[in-house]
Amino acid sequence: MRVLTIIPTYNELESLPKTLQRLRAAVPASDVLVVDDNSPDGTGHLADNIAAEDSQVHVLHRKGKEGLGAAYIAGFKWGLAAGYDVLVEMDADGSHQPEQLPQLLEAVEQGADLAMGSRWVPGGSVVNWPLYRQAISRVGSTYARLMLGLKIKDVTGGYRAFRRSTLEKLNLDQVDSVGYGFQVDLAWRVAKMGLRIEERPITFVERELGASKMSGNIVVEAMINVTRWGLQARWNKLTGKEAPAQG
Ligand code: GDD
Ligand code: MN
Repeated sequence: MRVLTIIPTYNELESLPKTLQRLRAAVPASDVLVVDDNSPDGTGHLADNIAAEDSQVHVLHRKGKEGLGAAYIAGFKWGLAAGYDVLVEMDADGSHQPEQLPQLLEAVEQGADLAMGSRWVPGGSVVNWPLYRQAISRVGSTYARLMLGLKIKDVTGGYRAFRRSTLEKLNLDQVDSVGYGFQVDLAWRVAKMGLRIEERPITFVERELGASKMSGNIVVEAMINVTRWGLQARWNKLTGKEAPAQG
């Protein structure tokens, strides 16, 4: 399996080198694609320097901050075009521990179409995450599960491994969520197709350096979208247009 780990960055100058170092040590076989949105702090330039020293590290530069979703879509397209079998999503700030990536890759090897790192299954946990963030994540996850009929426990989680065929089946150009709702959007699309989603416990460690890009707007976008999708799905079911989600 050829694996590409995609790391979106916006102002991650302090965190990125350590994360890359840990990832290359933990899973040497994985290539890496840093997708930088022209970070004002020079993260993109730093990534170029690392890539010049390591042929397994690549950098995709984007014009400006267009959101996590747009960065991942660009990264997925790059990875699919380059022929990778598994495409991984990982945050740059160390919250997604590279040492836990083998568990996700194993799930895909064993047949999962999408393996998701989960904070909210037995064995999963969060370290140093403020209570209000835990509350947003738990409430948001529960709301999305109920609204969309998903069985996944950590719907907004961003540590994931996609089988290539899963992304090929999605119409990436149709995914227009920009914020973290993008994560819910993709999980929902995969579940609707009846593909196999597996959660694996992870320990999510809050960043020590830099700042989160989470904002009220991002939460509001996600809530509005989840509500819209949920109501639409109920309507479709009533009118016999679409089967309910399986995931
Ligand atoms: N290229 C790019 N463009 N990268 C971005 C952008 C953007 O507009 N916004 C955020 N990122 C990158 C950050 O640089 C980081 O590598 C990663 O996306 C996650 O951003 P954080 O700001 O660290 O997110 P968080 O810790 O608040 O949120 C975590 O929880 C969310 C909710 O569960 C992450 O695990 C998210 O993936 C998750 O959805
Ligand atoms: Mn973070």
